[in-house]
Amino acid sequence: MRLLKPVLAGLCAISLLAAATPYSARAEFTRPSRIAFPETGSYSPQKAALGKMLFFDARLSRGQNLSCASCHNPSFGWESPVPRAIGGLNRPLKRHTPTLENLAEATAFFWDGRAATLEEQARSPITHPDEMDSSLPDVVRRLSAISGYRRNFAIAFPEEGLTETSVLAALATYQRTLRSGWSPFDDWIEGDEDAISSAARRGFEVFTGVARCNECHSGWSFTDHDFHRVGVGGEDIGRGLIDPALAYGFKTPGLRNIALRAPYMHNGSLGTLRDVVAHYRQGGTTVAGHPSELTPLQISDRQASDLVAFLETLTAYEPHVSTPALPVD
Ligand code: HEC
Ligand code: HEC
Repeated sequence: MRLLKPVLAGLCAISLLAAATPYSARAEFTRPSRIAFPETGSYSPQKAALGKMLFFDARLSRGQNLSCASCHNPSFGWESPVPRAIGGLNRPLKRHTPTLENLAEATAFFWDGRAATLEEQARSPITHPDEMDSSLPDVVRRLSAISGYRRNFAIAFPEEGLTETSVLAALATYQRTLRSGWSPFDDWIEGDEDAISSAARRGFEVFTGVARCNECHSGWSFTDHDFHRVGVGGEDIGRGLIDPALAYGFKTPGLRNIALRAPYMHNGSLGTLRDVVAHYRQGGTTVAGHPSELTPLQISDRQASDLVAFLETLTAYEPHVSTPALPVD
């Protein structure tokens, strides 16, 4: 009996835990301890620091009035707080600005995934007439005239120096370091039961249970890095540009810091998280004969609020980002 007691107590504790907390579901959302840098884009602190300067430097744009951070604003989860940001020519862009957090593991970039690497992606905003409207040779010429940049490139890229490729590599390396910060949700995942409210805990059950949101928003950064049709509407064919079978499909966005990132969806058409949940309850529309992958979600009003409460726990305690000092001459 002396032996049996602790064993029984242990068994009870296990079954109690199993009933109260879906540990198996939680394991999926544990943050990795390291960032996966690709072999072709190896990390060095010098490259990342230089990439950060470039990211915040409007001298990359033709009018010297627009930096990457003008649209990918750290205060708004690295997005723009408007449906469609305004580019260099004062015209709204075709799509909503996506976040840049947690992209180190992504395998395709843009809402339609048309760029395969962050290096390749960076060329586009610099050169697109609606965005920074510049050219890589112009950028290299302009930066070469600034001694601080010449020095920084010589340190970060001792063999290559300041070239089109090293500009893109520095930007990509910096962007791979952009990780969403530690949030109440992470504390909860680590076992602090009270880190999030009971409404948020119920919301997590809905998210991973009846609503099956994690079929697409899976893993610690809440994306499967794949493309899906959720029937938001509009004329944009999205992934259809590359794969006609996935017309009107878009890349699944990660959901970290999502409360900072309104408005939502590729066209910024949904203003609040409540609107997003309402969209999932409705199931999405068929666009040009292409039905949504979703089926209307049968959940109560309380479960809908719980979902929003859960999504809000993904906001980092300290989303603060410092701006770099830029070389002046
Ligand atoms: C005028 C606003 C604007 C500026 C300036 C801008 N971007 Fe973007 N960025 C966007 C929009 C809008 C998209 C989505 C475009 C699409 O999917 O077709 C985007 C997409 C991206 C993506 C893809 C993200 C993903 O999840 O696939 C990356 C990476 C990115 N931008 C990096 C940069 C970098 C680096 C710079 C500076 C060199 C920059 N952007 C400048 C608006 C901007
Ligand atoms: C079939 C895959 C799939 C399922 C299931 C799914 N999502 Fe999504 N989610 C997406 C895709 C794809 C987008 C982007 C769609 C677009 O922009 O047109 C998206 C966008 C979002 C956004 C906006 C993100 C942003 O950056 O604008 C939120 C929030 C969101 N989903 C939450 C949820 C919730 C909550 C559920 C469960 C009720 C859910 N999703 C279920 C694929 C899915």
